[in-house]
Amino acid sequence: MFHGRRVAAIIAAAGKGSRMGSDIPKQFLKLGGEPVMIKSIRTFENMDAVDYIFIVAGKDYLDHCRQLVEDYGFTKVESIVTGGDQRQDSVFNALQEMNRLKPGVEFVLIHDAARPFISEEVVENVLSETAGTGAAVACVAMKNSVRKIGDGGSEYVNRDDYVSVQTPQGFRKSLLINAYEKAYDDSFYGTDDASIVERAGERIAIVDGDYSNIKITTREDLPMENRVGTGFDVHRLTEGRKLILGGVEIPWDRGLDGHSDADVVIHALMDALLGAAAMGDIGVHFPDDDPRYEGADSSLLLREVIKKLDGEFYKVANVDITIMAQSPKLQPYIPQMRRVIAGCLEVSPERVSVKATTTERLGFIGREEGIACQAAASIYR
Ligand code: CTP
Ligand code: MG
Repeated sequence: MFHGRRVAAIIAAAGKGSRMGSDIPKQFLKLGGEPVMIKSIRTFENMDAVDYIFIVAGKDYLDHCRQLVEDYGFTKVESIVTGGDQRQDSVFNALQEMNRLKPGVEFVLIHDAARPFISEEVVENVLSETAGTGAAVACVAMKNSVRKIGDGGSEYVNRDDYVSVQTPQGFRKSLLINAYEKAYDDSFYGTDDASIVERAGERIAIVDGDYSNIKITTREDLPMENRVGTGFDVHRLTEGRKLILGGVEIPWDRGLDGHSDADVVIHALMDALLGAAAMGDIGVHFPDDDPRYEGADSSLLLREVIKKLDGEFYKVANVDITIMAQSPKLQPYIPQMRRVIAGCLEVSPERVSVKATTTERLGFIGREEGIACQAAASIYR
């Protein structure tokens, strides 16, 4: 049906995600290890009916988007356009860029980057209706009862008279551009593209969307996720240093050598936590040639790691730590280590397991040349 007709998709990814409140805008949060926006784009990238993709991104995220497009090998992305204040401004910028670069485009699909579960079937529904009528939006029936609110109270309305609007929204390009220009002439702002096109006197056809095609808006919309990570670290034993393990100072004639306080337990744990979130490792976040971390209290760095995880809404389910040391005897200090670590992780000590073992005098640990630690962490969202 679309043979020889040019179809472009605009992915609106220039929002700030203020209702989500994450450290990075919601379209860049990861779901199952992949940015939300990437999932949204992939459906269009994979469809034969779609020729070009235009992404709109906030000005501080243009490079990040470029990198993602390259990393994921998308070939249909024609341009990454700077967004505007409102969604409408962002879409208009993309439309103008599209007109410059690909004037032959006949149909435009506009999709929220924050709707990663879009299926090819829904895009096809929108596109085939758009080809016929010029304007179509994906919608679903209301599941909840609906009330209209007004001064002094609220009033029952029949939910069958309403639908909930999703994206993609598809339009014949000429009609869409006229409608957008008219909206700007009248200083009109709408919450979606259909409202703008309708205002220009066009009819909007409704096609079947899909309940799973949600717009990720608040943190409750992020699907449940459980992840695990592991970490490992070794430090050399030396004279004239304090021995700090799991945030606890242990009286001994030797200590661990290192740039920071050399707390091998917390270092292994931080790597396990970062690993669980696929956020790199401690070397990336706290480089050991950075003077800020000289003699650093590792438990403060652990709190930093927890803040980074919290920025993506991850919480700690439990951690399990094995310290490998020939001596001194660590058993008496383990309850305190668990309390200190639990405090940093903002969980109860019951979620923190610390174990110690010798290596039967074998290897560098057995010769008391160093202490090693292995950690596993489970996180959830
Ligand atoms: N969007 C955009 N440009 C804007 C505002 C929004 O491209 N100036 C995009 C968002 O990135 C999102 C889609 O439009 O993919 C739907 O908007 P919304 O869910 O409201 O996202 P945000 O505006 O980012 O979120 P919030 O309203 O909570 O700040
Ligand atoms: Mg918004």
